[in-house]
Amino acid sequence: MDQPTAPVPPPGCPAHQAGGRVPLYGPEFAADPQAYYTYLRHYGPTAPVEITPGVEATLVTDYAAALQLLQDSGSFRKDARRWRDLNEGRISPDSAALPLLSYRPACMFTDGAEHLRLRQSVTESMARIDQLRLSKSVERISDFLISQFNERGSADLIGSYAKQLPLLVFNELFGCTADIGDRVFFGVSGMFDGVNADRAIGVLFQAVGELVALKRRKPGDDVTSWLLQHHTALTDEEMLHQVSLLLGAGAEALVNLIGNTLHRLLTDDRYAHEGGLIDEAMDDTLWENPPMTNYAAHYPVSDMAFADQKLIAGDLMLVSFAAANTGPALSAAREAGSNRAHLAWGAGPHACPSKEPARQIAVSAIENLLNRLPDVELSVPEESLTWRPGAFSRGLVTLPARFTPVKPVGRPRQNTTQAASAPGSAGAARQDQAGVWSKFLTWLTK
Ligand code: HEM
Repeated sequence: MDQPTAPVPPPGCPAHQAGGRVPLYGPEFAADPQAYYTYLRHYGPTAPVEITPGVEATLVTDYAAALQLLQDSGSFRKDARRWRDLNEGRISPDSAALPLLSYRPACMFTDGAEHLRLRQSVTESMARIDQLRLSKSVERISDFLISQFNERGSADLIGSYAKQLPLLVFNELFGCTADIGDRVFFGVSGMFDGVNADRAIGVLFQAVGELVALKRRKPGDDVTSWLLQHHTALTDEEMLHQVSLLLGAGAEALVNLIGNTLHRLLTDDRYAHEGGLIDEAMDDTLWENPPMTNYAAHYPVSDMAFADQKLIAGDLMLVSFAAANTGPALSAAREAGSNRAHLAWGAGPHACPSKEPARQIAVSAIENLLNRLPDVELSVPEESLTWRPGAFSRGLVTLPARFTPVKPVGRPRQNTTQAASAPGSAGAARQDQAGVWSKFLTWLTK
């Protein structure tokens, strides 16, 4: 490929001064990541980047090279204990990248037989989710969230809807009691808000630990119990990290899938409020504005040449799903109608194991919102919308919308969650201190 002699950083890019690695964080990156990807492509299939202050990585931006890395588990491993910069003390212990990159005994951070075992427990437990039950759960939770703002005629569809729905659905799927569910909600939200992330992670681990202990004593019809019953016989420590991974990775990606698809539906006339076009808007989102943008951390097993680059064993490699999806190599596949070619769900042995339920949750959430509020529209100029800074994922800060106020949505006649009748349920929770999950359980039983 052509190698321009002097790539020009996008306006405002600190690489103008740094002359070295391109920082993938901060307001300039968040405002126009595609300008950065265009610039990074000038380096060739991979480029030198800084993903958070002080954390350097080689970013794969080219589709063919990305696929090669994701599928070559002999040369590239996921176990972060191979990360050279971390092992050699170059990563600050309070780096914001660590919660997403450091090793844990969960499928995302393991290789070979250990990975197969941990992943099998996830895929087979997630496969037990009943689609109809999941749709009903999403609809119920969506109705609850809409009931909090439907008479106002306006709402922030990120803060009041997209950000809350996935975690409430997970609380139900994983069989959380009111008290545990409130802390799971607080923990996962706090982890990704980046404010006091350490405390949030502590709260999440404590709550998940209690959930695992509860389900060992008293199994239910939920993902936590299915994981525990799986023949791979996960230890309590593995359960803690697997469940926390599912909740964390799933919620953040789903918030952005719902938010980015809603953004597209509300800002692009092509989709203008026709319910039938939700699938199309979601596919276009997965191609052009994927929820996970630069992730899939891998480490070369040995010093090697890869895509015109010399790599050293233990280098942090990240895949830019966002750049690979929008690069020139993929345009032809996309025009030929291949909707499956994009990398928004990853690829290879670590590709997302929850693609089907994730998509179902996101489509049902959007469908129900548009059914309940058929004339919903953006209430601010599109140019005023801002995106959260950060290299790993892409999501809006807010999505202010207006609509004709409607009457409260009817509640389901009976309480269908087993969690609502579990110990520590909403009945016992003090309303003044109750979290969103408790409020939902109370709403169900009113
Ligand atoms: C129900 C919601 C979800 C759950 C529970 C979930 C869970 C997971 C898990 C456990 C992995 C690691 C698999 C492994 O290492 O073998 C994973 C990988 C991945 N997921 Fe999901 N996910 C969800 C939704 C999403 C969504 C909405 C997206 C974006 C469209 C997404 C994109 C990815 C990607 C790109 C990877 C590969 C990451 C890597 O290679 O390191 N996921 N997911």
